[in-house]
Amino acid sequence: MTAVQVIATKRDGGVLSDAQIDWVIDGYTRGVVAEEQMAALAMAVYLNGMQIGEIGRWTDAMIASGVRLDLSGVGRPTVDKHSTGGVGDKVSLPLVPLVAACGAAVPQLSGRGLGHTGGTLDKMEAIPGWQPLLTPDAFTAMLRDVGGVICAASADLVPADRKLYALRDVTGTVASIPLIAASIMSKKIAEGTDALVLDVKVGSGAFMTDLSAAAELARTMVGLGQAHGVRTSALLTDMSSPIGVAVGNAVEVAESVEVLAGGGPADLVELTLALAREMVQLAGLDADPAEVLASGRAMDTWRAVVRGQGGDPDAPLPTPRERHQVRATDSGLVRTVDARAVGEAAWLLGAGRARKEDPVQAAAGLLCHVRPGDTVEVGQVLFELHTDTPAAFPAALTALDRAVGLAEPGTPVTPSSRILQ
Ligand code: URA
Repeated sequence: MTAVQVIATKRDGGVLSDAQIDWVIDGYTRGVVAEEQMAALAMAVYLNGMQIGEIGRWTDAMIASGVRLDLSGVGRPTVDKHSTGGVGDKVSLPLVPLVAACGAAVPQLSGRGLGHTGGTLDKMEAIPGWQPLLTPDAFTAMLRDVGGVICAASADLVPADRKLYALRDVTGTVASIPLIAASIMSKKIAEGTDALVLDVKVGSGAFMTDLSAAAELARTMVGLGQAHGVRTSALLTDMSSPIGVAVGNAVEVAESVEVLAGGGPADLVELTLALAREMVQLAGLDADPAEVLASGRAMDTWRAVVRGQGGDPDAPLPTPRERHQVRATDSGLVRTVDARAVGEAAWLLGAGRARKEDPVQAAAGLLCHVRPGDTVEVGQVLFELHTDTPAAFPAALTALDRAVGLAEPGTPVTPSSRILQ
């Protein structure tokens, strides 16, 4: 078999055989299939798609490129959540301790942000002392003793995806439903969780901007999970405006702690509780997440999760060197607050990275004081920008220029639920 034959099969609209898929993923992981050959194959898949059987085999081959964790010894039902990525999406921070406090073990292996969407590890690293890496023994011990862990995946978990995702990122081949589904599900299946809830985002701040594509992605991933013995379900949730008020790193940690303390923005609380209910049900537990949140037990678990990785839950979070307020120049009813524009502004302020090796600023980001359905007056503060590098303000302000859309007078705008399906 040669890489050129595999590429030509997909280029010409054919179906890859199991043997071709196994060979090409294994060869790519070992460096036998060259980057440019995999780039050509990824583009052929992007353009011509894959059948469900091919996606399943691709996922299997990705899992087989590394280790598969065994969480059977943690003594609690395991359940995880995966979000396809959004703006202000700090949900994992309150959700992991909440579901752990409900009696499950939540093995949340997280990633870093790239471009306009933030990464959970970048947010957690704003907590003084917190470390993303755990040894396998410490990981299992955290799940057994605390019930939740938020940490980086080790290099031997789906190494094929580590290479392939980075390659797709620079070859315009990320937004392919078969490749996204196989990439996400291979990592979640290899992680060893018994159950998984997918938060598939739809809207300007998400990979999928239309509902039917998001629904297809959700169906594909749920099918892959079930075929691999992982009880899997999906919620489709709105990502057209930022989640909550805070977008960035330290600011999102602070907002997550507000939720754990019983406060926080209503949409963030709604999303956290909806995902928690789904996870608790899939885990076969009968706890009520709203009651557990109100009891303070989720906050206690958060503190244990942070301490378990060297963090100090009582330490003050980093604050920015400079702040800048953006005020409304028109009054009216807010129809849209564009998630992508807000995400790009936060990224430009230093909260995110353009290349995966770039550092991020813990204190950078913004507070979004306006949401669809609000009425604004001239002079009212719409955004508060935070950065350590004030030279970033002009570009961030340009990104925010058209972020807020006002409704035509007389048009009703009702704030809607984040949960679409
Ligand atoms: N997240 C992933 O892990 N992989 C993708 O392909 C897209 C989003």
